[in-house]
Amino acid sequence: MTDLLKIIPQLTIGAVDLVAAFLFMYGLKRMSSPVTAPSGIKVAGLGMAVAIVASFLYAFDVGATAKPFLTVNIGLAVVALAIGGGIAWWAGRKVAMTAMPQMVAIYNGMGGGAAAAIAAVELFGNKADGVTQLVVTLIGALIGAVSLSGSLIAWAKLDEVIKKPLRFQGQQILNALVALATLAIGGYFVAVTHGVITPPVATSDLIYIFFGAALLFGVLMTLPIGGADMPVVISIYNAFTGLAVGLGGFVLQNPALMIAGMVVGAAGTLLTLLMAKAMNRSVSNILFTNFGTVVQQKQGEIKGSLKPVEASDAGIFMRYAASVIIVPGYGLAVAQGQGKLYEFVKLLQAAGVSVKFAVHPVAGRMPGQMDVLLAEAGVPYDMIFQLEDINDEFANTDVALVIGANDVVNPAARTDKSSPIFGMPILNADKAKKVYVVKRGQGKGYAGIVNALFYGDNCDMVYGDAAAVLTKMIEAVRALGTKAAA
Ligand code: TAP
Repeated sequence: MTDLLKIIPQLTIGAVDLVAAFLFMYGLKRMSSPVTAPSGIKVAGLGMAVAIVASFLYAFDVGATAKPFLTVNIGLAVVALAIGGGIAWWAGRKVAMTAMPQMVAIYNGMGGGAAAAIAAVELFGNKADGVTQLVVTLIGALIGAVSLSGSLIAWAKLDEVIKKPLRFQGQQILNALVALATLAIGGYFVAVTHGVITPPVATSDLIYIFFGAALLFGVLMTLPIGGADMPVVISIYNAFTGLAVGLGGFVLQNPALMIAGMVVGAAGTLLTLLMAKAMNRSVSNILFTNFGTVVQQKQGEIKGSLKPVEASDAGIFMRYAASVIIVPGYGLAVAQGQGKLYEFVKLLQAAGVSVKFAVHPVAGRMPGQMDVLLAEAGVPYDMIFQLEDINDEFANTDVALVIGANDVVNPAARTDKSSPIFGMPILNADKAKKVYVVKRGQGKGYAGIVNALFYGDNCDMVYGDAAAVLTKMIEAVRALGTKAAA
């Protein structure tokens, strides 16, 4: 009977962990479609709440000898939860859509930092049980620390606190040496801990040196990477953070942490591979080459001229077209013009025009940004098509309306081997019978290169902020309706 009483609390923790794991998986499954994604996020969030409850049960050591309140730091944990949760709630509500990538970078870094902190507590407290657990703790510490410092640099680059990639000769050799030195310090620490070697410094100093080297490696690894590659880098750090958290779960013997970490690690890895595929580049090419630097191009290499037209004329032209494909890009998010865009689209549809949206996998500044933007405006999902599903249709379409997009419709990706975006699949907007490009001026895209599409015979430029241009297009099309009625 007493044995049964002891087992019941342990079974309770196991059951709570299982519920959390189920909610993570189910939430993730629902996130695979834009229709079910909002509820998927809530389900996964509920899973996280359940996992936190399970962690408190561990902290109280339910099922074993109950520990006094203060020794398990429950009070501190509650305060930390309240502060962290409060800041996240406030920041989540306040953040602009265009600043989401920065926010994701910060959260990744925090996750990595938390995993590294767990490992640090284990290492300083000399709690690791045997060589395997010590090695796992060190690997978790290394990955978590790299993810923390690397993500902070990624944030600084995305937020333009750091404006240029830092590159110098012999950089990759230096990075490799720092990585090797970090591993060597880790190995030395294991030998010291198990009495194989007597160290010249205190073991706690070795831990500080190890963390310092790991943090330095994260900084050095991220500094040379160009801005356009930051989303992929963030996704890699996301995978790293997941892995570090999963290892932390192993060290603490906390299944909820293990499962959550592995889910994040796997999702981050898949996202990294998908993004690299969408740019037609390998992950090593992204990490070790100089993509994203502003390249010097000779304007004379591009034939044709830029032909500005009035927004109202472009709007009326589309009103009388049979088919329009809209290519949204980063500028639409900057202008917050999604609501106006859908208003314009509804006017075109009411006039019998077939309208579709073509979304490039890396349009904007984070995966899925355009889908979220269009969903926010209420655009039905069946009007939104991904690159591979719509690219052949441009050739038979009357008008391609490129709005705030640039790199994702740059034909140089197909033809110019010297272009930094060569090989990236692009949307075939240039193949449409007529192209309108809405942008504010001569600003380049993220890759910093000129776009030959804008100079094409079939292309006209509608200059202005996307929201302002759309307002004029709407007025022009509405005025037509009024004239017809009069
Ligand atoms: P971009 O190539 O960055 O072009 C955006 C264009 O929007 C610019 O040429 C800019 O020209 C225009 N623009 C800016 N503000 C505007 C406004 N208020 N109204 C109208 N136009 C405005 O965008 P894209 O085609 O979406 O391509 C995305 C690029 O970012 C790719 O190179 C991709 O690799 C990279 N990237 C992608 C991600 C992900 S995962 N989505 C993350 C980071 C980077 P003006 O200044 O002349 O207006």
